[in-house]
Amino acid sequence: MPLRKDRTINQQLHSIVESDNPESSPVNQSTLKILGPSCLQGNINIGGAKNSALPAMAATLLSSGVCRLRQVPCLADINIMGQVLSALGAKIKHNTNTFTLDIDASIINNSEAPYELVRQLRASFFAIGPILARLGVARIPLPGGCAIGARPVDLHVKGLQALGAEVHIEHGMVNAYISSSKKKLRGAKIYLDYPSVGATETLMMAATLAEGETIIENAAQEPEVEDLANLCIAMGANIFGAGTKTIVISGVPKLHSVDYTIIPDRIEAGTFLIAGAITNSDISISPVVPKHLSAVISKLQSVGVKIIQETSDSLHILPSKILKSTDIETQPYPGFPTDMQAPFMALLSICSGSSYITETVFENRMRHVSELNRMGANIRVKGNNAIVQGVPKLSAAPVIGSDLRASAALILAALAAEGETIFQGLQHLNRGYEQLEVKLQKLGAKLQRVDLVEENDISQDSI
Ligand code: EPZ
Repeated sequence: MPLRKDRTINQQLHSIVESDNPESSPVNQSTLKILGPSCLQGNINIGGAKNSALPAMAATLLSSGVCRLRQVPCLADINIMGQVLSALGAKIKHNTNTFTLDIDASIINNSEAPYELVRQLRASFFAIGPILARLGVARIPLPGGCAIGARPVDLHVKGLQALGAEVHIEHGMVNAYISSSKKKLRGAKIYLDYPSVGATETLMMAATLAEGETIIENAAQEPEVEDLANLCIAMGANIFGAGTKTIVISGVPKLHSVDYTIIPDRIEAGTFLIAGAITNSDISISPVVPKHLSAVISKLQSVGVKIIQETSDSLHILPSKILKSTDIETQPYPGFPTDMQAPFMALLSICSGSSYITETVFENRMRHVSELNRMGANIRVKGNNAIVQGVPKLSAAPVIGSDLRASAALILAALAAEGETIFQGLQHLNRGYEQLEVKLQKLGAKLQRVDLVEENDISQDSI
């Protein structure tokens, strides 16, 4: 649900935040009707990366000036993060026509993020590093788990303590403060037990204003981590090695304004590549950084999909009739991304032969399987492993999305399924895919957004 240019972010956000209340939200009472099988054709414009824009918004709290972020997607998660920054005292202008976000964090007069918002967007927890580094104190509600896992923040907390912060968790609140007289964090050597994306980002941001040098070992190497580092460097930070396992940050006294463009969303790009593959279509996507999708492209080619890189920032997928099985194991970057596991499983469900999928990053990321099986897929799950027995075709059915990427998987399956699928779960899709149905319609997909309340008097005209 993109922000309208003419309304303030708070007015808009209030309606967005409302939308997460399942009872009242129009979004949750809407469904998508998808008529398949579709054949797609044309070019798709890929938006800025959600998982870059969210930490980048938090990083602007480190600056005492006005920061401009470009290619910021219009997503529910972005709207909620904007409301978190507003609650902390920042002033925000979101121009949805130019996908530009102007954030003035020169005055940050509140060190506590509202529970109501952190509850809905766990990425808002990433603000703890910048607030603590800027104010010397931060009170951030403990983000709850979500559909895909418990999502603890112990690595964030341990790292902040290594940087000299006192951190106590009580009553569901993470209270962090710097007891030293200078109110400055101090550089430290930190080893992450797991290459957590969020913990790497939180600690890298906190270390930019610390005294001395910080070394983060076993750091996450995701492109979004590197993008965040490039943003901070453009703000005046000294960061070396982002995108590798070891990141070195030399603290500086302050960071300044910046005008920065977010990288393209590699998961949106991968999702559209699968839309092309699962419907045996001819589509192009841009902008994209092919290197960010190496593992996904390699797996698509191993199932028989033809992909051509025509320019440095575009990919072209061609109809490829015979698709055969392959095995997937999700890993931290540069391994196969966990966010592509569900969408790729939808494709594998119609690839001939058996495919073996192992999810190693999150402990509960197989909830799309039961819904895919309702559409005629033949998938068995045991713990974090799934065996996909390819079937000749899927059949339409009413399905419900449990989380963002599971919902994307069901939409992709519906594009290939015979008949009219009724999808519920738009509130999940709106979090991470900007106008997914509009973009698919432009490619020729037959989708229609329908309010459940009208369901009874909808004529039987097909879409
Ligand atoms: C980021 O989540 C992304 N979200 C996720 O995308 C993505 O799936 C994930 O990285 C992995 O690539 C954003 O960037 C906003 P992690 P994050 O910390 O940072 C465990 C999507 O669909 N862990 O790398 O939360 C954790 O439980 C979303 O766009 C700890 O144990 O991921 C998980 O098992 C979903 N302790 C594993 O590490 C910690 O302190 C990876 O989590 C932190 C994490």
